Amino acid sequence: MAPTGRSCFTTCISWSRWCHFNREKVPERQPHAKGAGAFGILKTTEDVSRYTKAALFQRDCSTEMLARFSTVAGEAGSPDTWRDVRGFSLKFYTEQGNYDLVGNNTPVFFVRDPMKFPHFIRSQKRLPDSGLRDHHMQWDFWTSNPETAHQVAYLMGERGLPRTWRHMNGYGSHTYMWINAAGERFWIKYHFHSNQGMASFSNAEAAAVAGQDTDFHRRDLFEAIARGEHPSWTLSVQAMPYEDARSYRINPFDLTKTWSHKDYPLIKVGTITLNRNPESFFAQIEQAAFSPGNTVPGIGLSPDKMLLGRVFALVRIESELAAAKKRATEEFHAVPRRPATYRSPSPVARGSTGRFRFAFSLHSTWLQTRINAMKWLTQASSDCGKPKNVSDVAPQRSTYYGLPVTTQAAGLIVRVILSSS
Ligand code: HEM
Repeated sequence: MAPTGRSCFTTCISWSRWCHFNREKVPERQPHAKGAGAFGILKTTEDVSRYTKAALFQRDCSTEMLARFSTVAGEAGSPDTWRDVRGFSLKFYTEQGNYDLVGNNTPVFFVRDPMKFPHFIRSQKRLPDSGLRDHHMQWDFWTSNPETAHQVAYLMGERGLPRTWRHMNGYGSHTYMWINAAGERFWIKYHFHSNQGMASFSNAEAAAVAGQDTDFHRRDLFEAIARGEHPSWTLSVQAMPYEDARSYRINPFDLTKTWSHKDYPLIKVGTITLNRNPESFFAQIEQAAFSPGNTVPGIGLSPDKMLLGRVFALVRIESELAAAKKRATEEFHAVPRRPATYRSPSPVARGSTGRFRFAFSLHSTWLQTRINAMKWLTQASSDCGKPKNVSDVAPQRSTYYGLPVTTQAAGLIVRVILSSS
């Protein structure tokens, strides 16, 4: 006992709180670190069974899903409105397993050779000596690799500065395969056209917003859904018969090129609508992990070298899946798609590797967090057969927080708890 009161070193709860605090972050994504997302539903409204037997794409099927939007190069705290390509990651919780479609807001990509991907990403990141972003480094890469010109044109146009995530299109970008019930195969390109329309910022607007609200896109999506304005996108595909790939005038598996809509017109499939915000950003969005290798029966890959590079890299080297394991947890497939109904070990603990369970909203205020903690502690005591009365756990609370709680403060807190429960 120290002269100033009981030391918080004496409780295992204090130790556990500090240990948790030290570990509550997981490494940010490399790349696509800054982003956010929401849950929703895919409704397949058209009959595309001629092209695929996948359960989620059968007419009238509704499938729960998660979407995450992101910038590519910026770090976790960087402004949403910097000029960049946007990630458009979708996870469909189908009855045949999770299907991940991890694309961008553009139909093409900078390179077609997966070997170049790390160099490309590093050229958009920071210089090794000063730690500064450098336009020369970006342009060095682009001009030395002329296949980037198509995507650079998209990036320097309006798609590089979307006004909101709701006002941009999404694409699967790669060529995928669909297989129907008879075993016939088709090459497929996915398109998600925004039903809100396309809108973008000018350079000056984007710079002004970046200086005022670095989370502009994250805020816009969250607040729109909270208001009941649920953004939606129409899903269409281009379908190329399997044999056409041999003779088509461009390589249909080259990710730097698009297919002519005249040759392969859009075929409508259905609609995705985002209608539910996350309750724990950390558990449900930051730890969400997407892998283009997660497919379901009726959907396959293609000879697109970038796609194969990504999928192969998943198990062999450091890529999306391996990165997610390192970043989040080996058990990332178990990330629940709904908030867990069981109680979390502690409602005031926020992050830490593999932490998917949460009992209370983690965007609560400081006071609300404390009230939640009190309620939890009271319930935990009663679960253990200990006293149920809130006041009975007051001594534990004082050490729990490592604070000298006076009788008046304890009384005040107890009153707040009782009046709020
Ligand atoms: C060889 C090529 C590629 C490699 C090695 C690669 C690697 C990675 C890695 C390591 C991550 C971070 C994953 C995490 O920490 O959870 C990531 C994220 C991502 N990648 Fe790639 N990538 C490649 C190509 C592409 C392409 C071509 C696209 C788009 C067409 C793409 C779209 C994305 C998106 C949208 C994310 C963010 C996923 C999320 O929201 O969590 N990647 N990639």
